[in-house]
Amino acid sequence: MRTQVGIVGAGPAGLLLGALLHKAGIESIIVERQSGEYVLSRIRAGILEEIAVQALVSAGVGERLLKEGIRHEHLSLSFAGQLHTVDLPKLTGGKTVTAYGQTEVTKDLMDHRAACGLPTVYEAKDVSLHDLTSAQPLIRYVKDGVAQEIRCDFIAGCDGFHGVSRQSIPAEKRQEFLREYPFGWLGVLADVPPVSPHAIIYGNSPEGFSLCSMRSMTRSRYYVQCPLSDKVEDWSDERFWDELRLRLPAHVAQDIITGPSIEKSIAPLRSFVSEPMRWGQLFLAGDAAHIVPPTGAKGLNLAASDVTMLSEALIQHYAEKRNDGIDGYSQRALRKIWRTERFSWCLTNLDSRTQRGTKLVAC
Ligand code: APR
Repeated sequence: MRTQVGIVGAGPAGLLLGALLHKAGIESIIVERQSGEYVLSRIRAGILEEIAVQALVSAGVGERLLKEGIRHEHLSLSFAGQLHTVDLPKLTGGKTVTAYGQTEVTKDLMDHRAACGLPTVYEAKDVSLHDLTSAQPLIRYVKDGVAQEIRCDFIAGCDGFHGVSRQSIPAEKRQEFLREYPFGWLGVLADVPPVSPHAIIYGNSPEGFSLCSMRSMTRSRYYVQCPLSDKVEDWSDERFWDELRLRLPAHVAQDIITGPSIEKSIAPLRSFVSEPMRWGQLFLAGDAAHIVPPTGAKGLNLAASDVTMLSEALIQHYAEKRNDGIDGYSQRALRKIWRTERFSWCLTNLDSRTQRGTKLVAC
């Protein structure tokens, strides 16, 4: 097979890139290790910044998002039992964020890809990348026991933190930066109305961090900071709701509607960046190149930002026969990524406590 851009990974980064390229008349094939159902079942982020909304709209995939997404014009920080509200449009020249689950974003992108008849190879085994510094790099994989290959002009590595793309850049050409935080986030998804339907609440309390977020008017996402040694089994729903209420101002806690969790997990928090994001004809985007702690809801938005820059660079290459976009992609994307890493680290420190109850680090 042959295509213009071979995309590894059908997460939000890979699917969005495919949609943006298609809009510009550029061909792509996506190769994904998992099944479509598995990709869709992963429960992840849910707050979209304008960069993500704009990318989805300009890719022609924003219809349901614009109808069903819930705009937030505020966020609230709670300290010492008091809520402090931040007016987002006032401080950002009119910007807002939108609550719309990543599962819905993925579904919209998958449906769009299928409706446009764009090729996606799910359940591709043993994906490997070759000839990356040549003009015709190659993706090899095995599908239903048969070895396959795709010749491409470019390969976009959108295969997340555990993917094969970043590892295909020689180790001596890569620089990796990692910070692991000494606590985790226990997250619960429940089909209950959100306590704060128009603003996320970040809670700082002596017991540790808490977060009230949402996916829709009937589905809430809540978190509490917990020791990394805790297991999900240690946390009954009842214990979770009690702990969440304890960490919030009394007037917020009393309004929380509880219900059975439909998902509960403990996520370790880390900050990670790999440089550069280009090697030959391979370009990394999204979690393949960087991870942020989920505190600032930046992971999905940063992936949208990478993919917007990468699609612009590739469109410029094909439409204008100019390469300054692709040559500058890594540097340009990393400039934004480091600023976002710093913001996410800072917000994590602002809200979290070490186990001895002291602030982790000043920021
Ligand atoms: N070959 C093919 N596909 C692979 C391989 C591989 N070797 N390894 C991983 N994948 C697939 C995964 O199965 C997954 O579907 O790549 C995809 C990567 O998707 P995500 O991990 O969601 O990464 P990304 O698209 O960059 O996500 C952007 O959304 O949920 C957040 O944490 C995520 O913040 C990140 C953002």
